[in-house]
Amino acid sequence: MCGIIGYLGNKNTATVLTEGLKRLEYRGYDSAGIAVFHDDCIQIRRTEGKLAILEQMISKESFNGHTGIGHTRWATHGKPSDRNAHPHKAGGVAVVHNGIIENYLHLKKTLQNKGHVFNSETDTEVISHLINDLIEEGCSFEDAVRRALQQLSGSYALGIMFEGEKKKLIGARNESPLVVGLGDGELFIASDTPAVLNYTREFIFLDDGQIVVLSDGKAAVKDLTGKTLRIEPRYVDWSPLMAEKGGYKHFMLKEIFEQPEAMINTIRGRVSREKGAISFEDFSLRKKQIEALRRVAIVACGTSFHAAMVGRYMIERLAGIPVDIDIASEFRYRNPLIDKGTLMVVISQSGETADTRAALREGKRKGALSLAICNVVESSIARESDHVIYTHAGPEIGVASTKAFITQLVALYLLALYLAKGKGSIESGTVRNLLAELIRIPGLAKDLLRNASEYQTLARKYASARNFLYLGRGINYPIALEGALKLKEISYIHAEGYPAGEMKHGPIALIDREMPVVVLVANDDVREKVMGNIEEVRARDGIVIALASGNDPEIRQKADELIPIPDTAPLLSPILFTIPLQLLAYYVADFKGNDVDQPRNLAKSVTVE
Ligand code: M6R
Repeated sequence: MCGIIGYLGNKNTATVLTEGLKRLEYRGYDSAGIAVFHDDCIQIRRTEGKLAILEQMISKESFNGHTGIGHTRWATHGKPSDRNAHPHKAGGVAVVHNGIIENYLHLKKTLQNKGHVFNSETDTEVISHLINDLIEEGCSFEDAVRRALQQLSGSYALGIMFEGEKKKLIGARNESPLVVGLGDGELFIASDTPAVLNYTREFIFLDDGQIVVLSDGKAAVKDLTGKTLRIEPRYVDWSPLMAEKGGYKHFMLKEIFEQPEAMINTIRGRVSREKGAISFEDFSLRKKQIEALRRVAIVACGTSFHAAMVGRYMIERLAGIPVDIDIASEFRYRNPLIDKGTLMVVISQSGETADTRAALREGKRKGALSLAICNVVESSIARESDHVIYTHAGPEIGVASTKAFITQLVALYLLALYLAKGKGSIESGTVRNLLAELIRIPGLAKDLLRNASEYQTLARKYASARNFLYLGRGINYPIALEGALKLKEISYIHAEGYPAGEMKHGPIALIDREMPVVVLVANDDVREKVMGNIEEVRARDGIVIALASGNDPEIRQKADELIPIPDTAPLLSPILFTIPLQLLAYYVADFKGNDVDQPRNLAKSVTVE
């Protein structure tokens, strides 16, 4: 994990780097640093802690060089500290790195035997020493980088500069994302496009095994043998404003409020309500292909896995195709039964999650047809899959995923309808009705968001609870898990999600008058059963916070708190139940004064296994 940036141009280099790093802090924020030329020498400033500390540190300095690299860290090798912060410099070579060098101990030993002295516990430092060693042996900067990369195993996105070539910057990528920004007389490298959207929307997306040499106003992409590659730049239509807070206290709050529009963007251009038709830009199957599908396997991590769980209900219910779901980190090690008759769906907001990416490769290796549901355009997973459905949620900066999740649910619903229609498992009239219901959802979500202040009051009332239990059943069981995960991630309160029917098999022992139990009661075929769970909680003096479809007087009477949820089709109810749970978690965390957008120990995109 970590965010990297590099700049070659005429602006104030330190400012471009720190501004860009601010937009990459979601990738890690335990330490930060920059390397910038000043009077022909590379100056390094780095520190443990957030970027603000680095900014303070350099606020009175000025650097006159126009080449620089920067880094915001999420520790993997070596705890957060000043000396483990990047950039790492050996001789005249400075390096920033995102990823893990698996053979660093072996390389370090070899270099130490040659007299190199290491100053950090990181795997990254070995890269700067290795390149420097090769330069000292007579290689040019570029050759040294290439030869060093050939010796590395593991993942990396790198920004590299060398004191001997002031106007050159090299970037490299293997299994960690790196984009090249092409500005007006200036060039950038970055882990992600929002870092430099203020300056350009034209990008080259590097592939694994590629390096980019920035010099003389040009970005030359090459492979590791030095062969020049022609890669067409792409235009990214996210605006810089989309990556700003826009008046909200936190990105997470902004992103929660953006959900109605984000869902509209997921649906836009893909459905015709009148014809009952669904289509995707980069995914279509013939009737025969759909009929030949023996199963769908959905794989993802974290919140995206919760979307996978909901997706299983949707696809099985509508299309009647069996669906397996897997947590990506488990999938690849259990020798999954995947074959040509499998449609493998991988879900990832970032499109860079290492476990999901590895699972995708495993599925493809076994012959599955792959489809990615991704938010980040041109991300690794999107590019490696046979097909992709983009969620079009826009940049999600808050570490806790919100709008990406909601739009994943919309995309899965569309996919389920598409498969069902193609297979002929539901009638055209039903498809039209289900699409009509989907089109109502953004408006209903807006209605829920109007009640935000009520959720805020509720959050304050229960912010001192030490544990929460979330209960849901059927398609809303994954939403109980998601509600609990949101609370854990940002408020640091212990929370568990459970299938409501399982409560009596164990968790009921936890219930006492201190324990808020959030119960999700949808208008579906298990409503009465969940009502029974509310009784069980009440009988043990637990506090019932009910989220219930419709305005049911019975629940109003039984629950300590009631959040009414607009009525909709059961398959779409998870979308609406999610929104108050996100806000509840947000307001609890904010009330506790936590760093909502950058919760402790977490990073937005987990690009290491
Ligand atoms: O980018 P991805 O969707 O692949 O990320 C997967 C998880 O790391 C992510 O959903 C994580 O659980 C979030 N912090 C949840 O809020």
